[in-house]
Amino acid sequence: MCGIVGYIGEKQAATLLVDGLKRLEYRGYDSAGVSLMNGKGVETRKAKGKIAMLEKAISSQPIHGKVGIAHTRWATHGPPNECNAHPHHDCTGKISVVHNGIIENYGPLRAMLKKTGHTFVSDTDTEVLAHLIEAAFDGNLEDAVVDALALVEGTYGIAVLSADDPEKIVAARKGSPLLIGIGEGENYVASDVAAILAHTRQVVYLDDGEMAIVKRDGYQVCDLDQQTIKKRVNRIEWDLDQIEKGGFDHFMLKEIMEQPHTIENTMRGRLVTEEGFSKLGGLNLTMDDLQNLDQIIITACGTSWHSALIGELMIEEHARIRCEVEYASEFRYRNPIVTDRTLCVVISQSGETADTLAAMREAKRRGAKTLGLVNQVGSTIAREDDGGIYLHAGPEIGVASTKAFTSQVIALALLTLKLGRLRNMSVVQGREIAQAMEALPGQIQSILDRAKEIEKIAEAFVDATNFLYLGRGYNFPVALEGALKLKEISYIHAEGYPAAEMKHGPIALIDADMPVVFIAPHDSVFDKVVSNVQEVKARGGRVIAITSRHEDSLDGKIDYEFRIPQTIDMLNPVLAAIPLQLLAYYIAAKRGLNVDQPRNLAKSVTVE
Ligand code: G6P
Repeated sequence: MCGIVGYIGEKQAATLLVDGLKRLEYRGYDSAGVSLMNGKGVETRKAKGKIAMLEKAISSQPIHGKVGIAHTRWATHGPPNECNAHPHHDCTGKISVVHNGIIENYGPLRAMLKKTGHTFVSDTDTEVLAHLIEAAFDGNLEDAVVDALALVEGTYGIAVLSADDPEKIVAARKGSPLLIGIGEGENYVASDVAAILAHTRQVVYLDDGEMAIVKRDGYQVCDLDQQTIKKRVNRIEWDLDQIEKGGFDHFMLKEIMEQPHTIENTMRGRLVTEEGFSKLGGLNLTMDDLQNLDQIIITACGTSWHSALIGELMIEEHARIRCEVEYASEFRYRNPIVTDRTLCVVISQSGETADTLAAMREAKRRGAKTLGLVNQVGSTIAREDDGGIYLHAGPEIGVASTKAFTSQVIALALLTLKLGRLRNMSVVQGREIAQAMEALPGQIQSILDRAKEIEKIAEAFVDATNFLYLGRGYNFPVALEGALKLKEISYIHAEGYPAAEMKHGPIALIDADMPVVFIAPHDSVFDKVVSNVQEVKARGGRVIAITSRHEDSLDGKIDYEFRIPQTIDMLNPVLAAIPLQLLAYYIAAKRGLNVDQPRNLAKSVTVE
């Protein structure tokens, strides 16, 4: 979604800011802009579309300055066009604002400001901020920002410049991530560490209700009463090459290929194979807490919701704790039964998804302990949960989540081991699971080594318009995830279904134009799936089957087959997801689509 980057220092800021925006492209956006302090006042360039268009606008009318702010917009209020792109200005053009989030009371504020003579040029909610700051400005920018924010309802991460108080950037946060990057004689503001990683690894994360006054030679963080807050400086451990393509055509393909290492990183130091146990240092739950749990609620959105479904099956089967999965967007607005013996597991790659964060806060308010399964270190969910398991999958740039999904399943397996062994899981059973987990990186590699086979299958389906994905048990969520991957990046309509439910509706769609992907490794429900394959074949459907060994019962019933290695039932999703990720990737790439930034989607959805 929207991205912010700001710079104050001794370098020319235009290129530096635009490069920062490029690092945020993966989040999804539809227009971009930059404002610089040019020595006389604030000068701005904006463009609809890709950052290349903004670069074009800058090269035809260059701007200069060593202090600036820049933004990528993902339209909420008003269409994506140059006028609605950020930064936005006040009437005098001296104040410039970039904003992530939504100002909910912008309607009445705009009306009130218009009455007092302010003129608006865009359809955005953000523009009211510039005018509110203008109305409050009396020579000091942070004072004006504080006064303006006092009138605002909603969420924001903002960065503000003023030509009349030019030696600073003022940033503030409520609900939308923001951080300060610390350099030498220069400092940065950003909504995502990727924007500034090329320049510094030292960052300070702002929390809700905090404001930062960022200057060349220092910064100060305070609350909105302007009381100074002492903040911890964090060191980012990622490397730049982790957020670069490294020779791959797309980030998505790179991230699919990384999975043997990323799941190894999720397991590292946590799996105690001999004892069939897992060590999870960040849970912050006592033995009593863990033993007294009587219910687990897992909440998430998108792909993370699919891994949650797998977690539910694992936890109920092996740890024998009642478990429910809820869409975070639904959970937050109903009246769920939560007690102090409920553990709310919150799954989020980004750690910033607005609905997931709100669901976690609601669970907390109702007395639950919260546990975050998060990839992005230092993200809001990771900071607000009671405890957590970091995925350690490294930055995920492709909008379609791949390596985070498999790491989430691994983290859930580790949690299952922990909870199961504290209850009635035997050491033998625990060891069997742990050994199967240890084998996964090698097994994934063996699948990736055969990516060409999937590419060949993809060639046959480039022009398909519909797809059905079917699986049972642990593989039903994989069917959902396979369908989501395909529709996200190829724009082919795809649905996932529990295989046996097919006959209650989707079977009506099956004909020779309907490819059906069966996730059918040899597991405890395999024989049941065979009859569903038969039903599709009898109606002329084209069957692509993900299997794990030769099965006589499938002879003559499948058109395309891809074999994955054999593992235990609960870990099949980790292996079965890989060919489905590759299938979606190759189909989309062969259709010539923008795989990493599919239309209308955002990597991290920070609005409700
Ligand atoms: C967006 C992304 C999805 C992601 C979902 C949840 O919709 O496009 O890929 O699964 O958000 O994101 P999270 O960061 O909370 O896992």
